[in-house]
Amino acid sequence: MKLGSITLDVPFFQAALSGYSDQAMRLLALEYGAPLVFSGLMLDKSVLYPDVMRKPLYAVSDQEHPIGGQLLGNDPDTMARAAGRLNEFGYDLIDLNFACPAPKVTQKQRGGFLLTDPKKAIEIIRRVRLAVECPVLVKLRIGFDQSEESLENFWRICEQAVAEGIDGLVIHGRTVSQKYRNRSDWSFIARVKKAFPQMSVVGSGDIFLAEDLVERLAEYDVDGVLVARGAIGNPWFFREARALVAGRDKPAPPSLAEQGRVMIRHFDLILKRYPPAKGIPFFRKFCVYYCRRHPQRKKAQTALITSGNTKEIRSAIKQWYCL
Ligand SMILES: Cc1cc2nc3c(=O)[nH]c(=O)nc-3n(C[C@H](O)[C@H](O)[C@H](O)COP(=O)(O)O)c2cc1C
Repeated sequence: MKLGSITLDVPFFQAALSGYSDQAMRLLALEYGAPLVFSGLMLDKSVLYPDVMRKPLYAVSDQEHPIGGQLLGNDPDTMARAAGRLNEFGYDLIDLNFACPAPKVTQKQRGGFLLTDPKKAIEIIRRVRLAVECPVLVKLRIGFDQSEESLENFWRICEQAVAEGIDGLVIHGRTVSQKYRNRSDWSFIARVKKAFPQMSVVGSGDIFLAEDLVERLAEYDVDGVLVARGAIGNPWFFREARALVAGRDKPAPPSLAEQGRVMIRHFDLILKRYPPAKGIPFFRKFCVYYCRRHPQRKKAQTALITSGNTKEIRSAIKQWYCL
């Protein structure tokens, strides 16, 4: 799949996942086969402060390329300056967020709200496109709501984005007001590809297993698939998706011991970047996802989440994952 000057050897990549896709998660995703990873969304204004760019949620390490940085904001000038800054700080690709449905974001007229303001959205795209030479993607939902006006706004933004020379549309097949209700509308996503056959269109929504990804690629004419919730606490997703996309059998699921080793590695990667008071609660969020594979899911999860310090957490992983 081509995203401007960046070519991926497989038609999927790891999504922007706020509150999750920091360096630790990204390094594991790359190690297990993701061809491209993304930061969580970053507020345009914050990116302009060099101190902020050194934080683990924002900073890019040498081992993380190619990496995309996703921007949130609503002022075209600030967004353009922030895009340039991300590029300077090592991001290889810029993604503009016109998708986030969180009320704290939309109330500030950012994220998914921009689907109600096509003029502003288009100006942001235009200014960012002029500001950077690296690939620029736009992440959007299929409208703010299901009204006719919303649909018109969606198509207008896509048409202009293509005309301005962006390098890919990443589309989550739900409206902003739907949040995560109902199913992602992949037929609609395929309609976007049909309307802009020359543009790379990446679909998003309800990809929990590697099989879901392969099925969407087979059934819908899209260039690629975004891996979001399916990748949290599950770097094996990328190994499995690589095998299935290449027509090979799905690899055996990771043994309990392999799961435990990866969890410890993930924990260590986190502790290298955050003090324990931050790193422990952050890692617990991933434990909930990792434990989904455990045969005694609830018990393992409780043991890990109630362990109070780094030593206890490590020994709980060793005990529950037979290390
Ligand atoms: C915890 C969480 C954080 C997310 N953060 C972002 C984000 O920062 N930027 C973004 O564009 N989408 C974000 N998303 C949306 C996903 O990228 C994706 O479009 C959506 O989850 C649908 O895909 P899925 O059903 O396969 O998870 C987030 C989703 C979740 C669950």
